[in-house]
Amino acid sequence: MSAVTRPLRWQDLSAVASLEQLLHPDDPWSVATWWAELAERPRRDYVVRVESEQLVGYAGLDLAGDSADVMTVAVDPQRQGQGHGDALMEHLHSRAARAGCDSVLLEVREDNRAARGLYDRHGYVLVHRRRGYYQPSGVDALVLRRSLGAEAQEGHDV
Ligand SMILES: CC(C)(COP(=O)(O)OP(=O)(O)OC[C@H]1O[C@@H](n2cnc3c(N)ncnc32)[C@H](O)[C@@H]1OP(=O)(O)O)[C@@H](O)C(=O)NCCC(=O)NCCS
Repeated sequence: MSAVTRPLRWQDLSAVASLEQLLHPDDPWSVATWWAELAERPRRDYVVRVESEQLVGYAGLDLAGDSADVMTVAVDPQRQGQGHGDALMEHLHSRAARAGCDSVLLEVREDNRAARGLYDRHGYVLVHRRRGYYQPSGVDALVLRRSLGAEAQEGHDV
């Protein structure tokens, strides 16, 4: 059975909030925050990656005019390193292109090696550094951007 990516539904929120707690123990999004994000659709666009309806990961975008922002991307620690992060990023890029965006922006902690490896792999480049953004650790935030050249072209041809 292979994993599929589909739109986030309210029925997914408790599983998503539990994985969020596991992955971001210091500042997890609460269930209430997730309900608020769902209420922001279609500007906010979230998906889950599931295998036999078991949650493997989730990701989302803020579709803001000609550029989109990655709001979150996360994969169950038990399922990391298996290509699910890649699949979620590819989905976000084609979704942003279909919405008419020509670039995607995101923010990542400088010490988040796995996420930086994923974004590097998908062609993101550093456009700004926010010194000491993450407190109390004092870790910098890196603002990364990638253009949606090919995807945007495909989107327009459709
Ligand atoms: C970042 C994250 C989503 C990656 O998901 P994943 O499913 O493990 O990623 P994939 O298996 O698709 O890996 C794709 C690429 O990402 C990079 N990558 C993934 N894990 C990595 C690690 N631990 N160290 C360095 N690079 C890594 C590699 O380039 C990898 O390609 P490769 O396997 O051919 O080397 C996952 O580690 C995660 O959920 N982290 C916690 C939440 C988080 O930090 N989200 C990002 C917030 S900005």
